[in-house]
Amino acid sequence: MKKLLVTMALPYANGDIHIGHMVEAVQTDIFVRAQKMTGREVRFICADDTHGTPIQVNAMKQGITPEELIARAWDNHTRDYALFGIDFDIFSSTNSDENRQWAEKIYLAMKADGLIKEKTIEQYFCEHDKMFLPDRFIKGTCPKCGATDQYGDNCEKCGATYNAEELTSPACALCGNTPILRETSHFFMDMEPKREFLKSYLTSGEVLQADMKAFIMNWTEDLQPRCISRDEPYFGFKIPGTEDKYFYVWLDAPVGYVSSTQKWCDANGRDVSEFWGKDADSEVVHCIGKDIVYFHSIMWPVMLDSVDCKLPSRIMIHGFLTVEGEKMSKSRGTFIQAKDYADRVNHADATQFLRLYYASKLTGGNNDLDFNIDEFINRINSTLVNNIGNFQNRASTFLDRFFDSTVPDADWDETIAAEAVAAANTVRENLIGGNYRVAFDAIHALGSVANKYFQDTKPWELVKLDDKSTVNVALVTCLNLVRTLGTLLKPIVPEIAARIEKQFGETFDWSSAAFAIRGKKIGTAEKLALPLETEMFETLYATTPEKPVLPEPEEELIEFPDFQKVKLRVGEVISAEKMKKSKKMMKIQINDGWKTRQIMSGIAEHYEPEQLIGKKVVFVSNLKPAKLMGELSEGMILAAEDASGALSMLSTEKEFDAGSLIS
Ligand code: 2FM
Ligand code: ZN
Repeated sequence: MKKLLVTMALPYANGDIHIGHMVEAVQTDIFVRAQKMTGREVRFICADDTHGTPIQVNAMKQGITPEELIARAWDNHTRDYALFGIDFDIFSSTNSDENRQWAEKIYLAMKADGLIKEKTIEQYFCEHDKMFLPDRFIKGTCPKCGATDQYGDNCEKCGATYNAEELTSPACALCGNTPILRETSHFFMDMEPKREFLKSYLTSGEVLQADMKAFIMNWTEDLQPRCISRDEPYFGFKIPGTEDKYFYVWLDAPVGYVSSTQKWCDANGRDVSEFWGKDADSEVVHCIGKDIVYFHSIMWPVMLDSVDCKLPSRIMIHGFLTVEGEKMSKSRGTFIQAKDYADRVNHADATQFLRLYYASKLTGGNNDLDFNIDEFINRINSTLVNNIGNFQNRASTFLDRFFDSTVPDADWDETIAAEAVAAANTVRENLIGGNYRVAFDAIHALGSVANKYFQDTKPWELVKLDDKSTVNVALVTCLNLVRTLGTLLKPIVPEIAARIEKQFGETFDWSSAAFAIRGKKIGTAEKLALPLETEMFETLYATTPEKPVLPEPEEELIEFPDFQKVKLRVGEVISAEKMKKSKKMMKIQINDGWKTRQIMSGIAEHYEPEQLIGKKVVFVSNLKPAKLMGELSEGMILAAEDASGALSMLSTEKEFDAGSLIS
């Protein structure tokens, strides 16, 4: 069997992993695990996609370097994938020396092949900031829906994509000035000379799945040159032979597949050509979403061909995730980060369950899939808990109780054994073929066969007979079925299947699906999975409440001398105590710069007395003394109140002595 290299799209380092990303990660991971169970060498390669303007802008906004930003993203991404059992051989980064070298090598090879053209184009330039403005540095009014304050590439309101030149009222996002159009030269990748190569490659073998073929082949009829360079400032790799041009992020992103493989090979005493060499005894499979097909089916093969690298033998393309029938939405609380899903769904197997749920919906086509809580609960409970879990539990506890956990040394039911083999073939073929839904249905169906067999043979009655031969047949059949089901579940829910592996003291591969165990003592049963309940999802769609906005007040104007009458000073809190008779009032002693004075303040619901000791506060020092709650109050401590009624005490920006005058 050929070595197999599998990749999923490199997630962009400018954001967290959400449950939409997880569709692809789960799809790829299941494929990898199913392939590994055949015994062939399989490597699962991934990395963060780290370059481009959004990362540069975001780092600037946060006051950190792009390198710091991508390092944080790497930590978060690897943590999140691990939570869902995504088992990479390497998760690298496109901001690596290896990636720079490969990007340069591929670019120079394309140049030598005459595929790189230099062209002068007009682009927005900010005369104030002295730079060409990439899409994310331009803001203006969306040409489609009229929404203001939109970036130069797409509108966040209506989702339209356009060129920056189409924006109405464009403005530089840095300084707000109107940019001018200025000529600049850029590098373009020309795919036209590779039309015949692309046509023959894309129609060979099983590169494209049926539902994408016509769509992709259409592109080969109209191969427009694609710009692969960007001006400074840009976080990325400088193009060799230029002073100020960078590779567009989409050039060096797929290169990350090769450079990350090289990193893995270097660390494991292997050679990257074992996987990517044109004549290597290997196969490359990419798993991607339907939004990035052009790069992978048109540009990437041309790039690989220029450096004599192995062309992908298959591009698996999936659809998008919707939540409760709609696009994921921050305001509806359905834009769910992977980490939040893991934290909020209150079940120890929540992430494994999501794998199974996605598997039940993935067909190997580009159709979208929907996450729906009710359906999710139903599907997990009906398949894993009430069907397979129920059977595993009944058969195993019966064996523990009446057979001291020893599978009888007897012949199994051959009809059932044949059904297990047939189900295993369907599951294996469809997990490798990409139609996970069919595999899921076959597992569920075998679970139903198993339950029916247990119910029909009634081992609890057979065990009472003197002749144990029939109960022996029933139990050897049932326990082998448990083992088959564990094997079939393994690529999809490896942690749950591991409970059955532990019971049998084995590591399952596809051969474990066939009946083989008799006359063997096994471990005692562990419950496969506890049910999901609606309450466990209570906080999944949590939205951050919008802050109330108060209407702008109409304020009575005063003269400056009126303001001057109020004397504000810095005071230092010496002691504070809550009042027994009032929830609001606190009795506070302050050092006013000269002496101690007592002020009654309505802050007791917002501060604890011990928080205040030593704090510098702002107070009105010339307020006539008054009695509040029977206590003398000589002044007033100032605090701000927001629209929600929260309080925050005022203090000076620098630590000043008590008594300092404020004006
Ligand atoms: O669409 C994306 O999120 C890209 N970061 C995918 C890159 S895939 C590959 F080309 F690197
Ligand atoms: Zn500007």
